[in-house]
Amino acid sequence: MDPVRNPYTPNAGAQPPAVVGRDVQLQTFELLLKRMSAGRTERSMIITGLRGVGKTVLLGRFRSKAQELDWVVVEREVSKHDDEKFRRQMVSSIRTALFEMSPKARWGDRMKRAAAVLKSFSVSVDPTGALTGGMDVDAAQGFADQQDLQADLTDLLVAVGEAAKDSRKGLVLLFDEVQFLSTAQLEALISALHKTVQRALPVTMVGAGLPQIAELAGDAKSYSERLFKFPRIGNLDEEDARDALVGPARAEGADWAADALDLATEVTGGYPYFLQELGYEVWGVAEGPVITREDVELAVPTYEAKLDESFFRVRLDRATEMERIYLRAMAELGPEPQKAQDVAAVIGRKSTQMGPTRAQLINMGLLYTPQHGYAAFTVPHFDRFMLRTIPALMMPPDRAGKKSRKDG
Ligand SMILES: Nc1ncnc2c1ncn2[C@@H]1O[C@H](COP(=O)(O)OP(=O)(O)OP(=O)(O)O)[C@@H](O)[C@H]1O
Ligand SMILES: [Mg+2]
Repeated sequence: MDPVRNPYTPNAGAQPPAVVGRDVQLQTFELLLKRMSAGRTERSMIITGLRGVGKTVLLGRFRSKAQELDWVVVEREVSKHDDEKFRRQMVSSIRTALFEMSPKARWGDRMKRAAAVLKSFSVSVDPTGALTGGMDVDAAQGFADQQDLQADLTDLLVAVGEAAKDSRKGLVLLFDEVQFLSTAQLEALISALHKTVQRALPVTMVGAGLPQIAELAGDAKSYSERLFKFPRIGNLDEEDARDALVGPARAEGADWAADALDLATEVTGGYPYFLQELGYEVWGVAEGPVITREDVELAVPTYEAKLDESFFRVRLDRATEMERIYLRAMAELGPEPQKAQDVAAVIGRKSTQMGPTRAQLINMGLLYTPQHGYAAFTVPHFDRFMLRTIPALMMPPDRAGKKSRKDG
């Protein structure tokens, strides 16, 4: 069918024509903002989920919803940063937010005060004042300038919250990839938000990240669970998966045969990214206007090759030999979370010996720890990919060596 009209969106963060299966999260978000606008408190949320399940897309929907409700939105993708860089990012985020909250010519005392606190928050990382350009205020000495991220961020968000309340606005920070925040940064954010919640100020942070974030935040502050919900999103159920394929096709005057949908949902497991990728390939081979099961069969090899070459491969390419051995051993055990000692046993080692490799894989974002002692792939179907790409189990070279010495 006409490639120009291909409605599928197999790209990171690309808003699909139909965002299906996320109504609950959208309602929760709407309720959060409405309650906060009414001066009530509500737990904020950090959306968790594996790679490609639609976290970024969902944050995009949150942005539209927040704007509809006349909230100021600041979006940031977090990356691994030292505290100085993090502070700079916060400065530029809050600066944008203040200007959006109200035009500078109309700034009242609260807004000016928030700008002044922002200025002192920024002094240590921006002595020339370039980052806070256009604000024309002096730093509020004694506030947000203790060089303690937690205390300083608290001063800042409280001042911004008071300014927001005063201008009858709300501010929501939408942070993507929050698992890249360091413990100290997350701790600082949590404790600052704790304060704004106590004061019923209309400032909140809604995040998205890999599932390990729930555990991270738990370590960061025992009261994080009182501040945040951690809704998990994942693959779409059968009906939603069908809708994700059918809706966009119908909008273009095409349709899917029932048995074609059966196969497509089975192959993709209902994972949003996989659905988009397969939908895209199927559209390319189909004559239309009704997509048949044969079309899907024809598209599957290209679909798999494409996933292998991009989505999966980029992740494996960054891994060392030992890390590959570990991933391959995990895949041998299946897609579920695996005990560290069981994986080590496959390789013929003790789990303590494999500890650093496992830690590195978690650090790289290839694995996460759903519960203590267990690790799982952050990418759906990664186990199948490993089995496809490395058919035979790999063993550490020294063990092979030892074995042959013993044998000999
Ligand atoms: N609810 C949905 N319905 C249908 N398709 C979706 C949905 N959400 C996301 N997608 C599609 O899935 C793909 C992945 O979405 P997105 O980039 O938001 O995932 P992610 O969870 O942020 O992934 P990553 O962890 O790699 O950043 C995109 O191609 C997007 O168009
Ligand atoms: Mg994303």
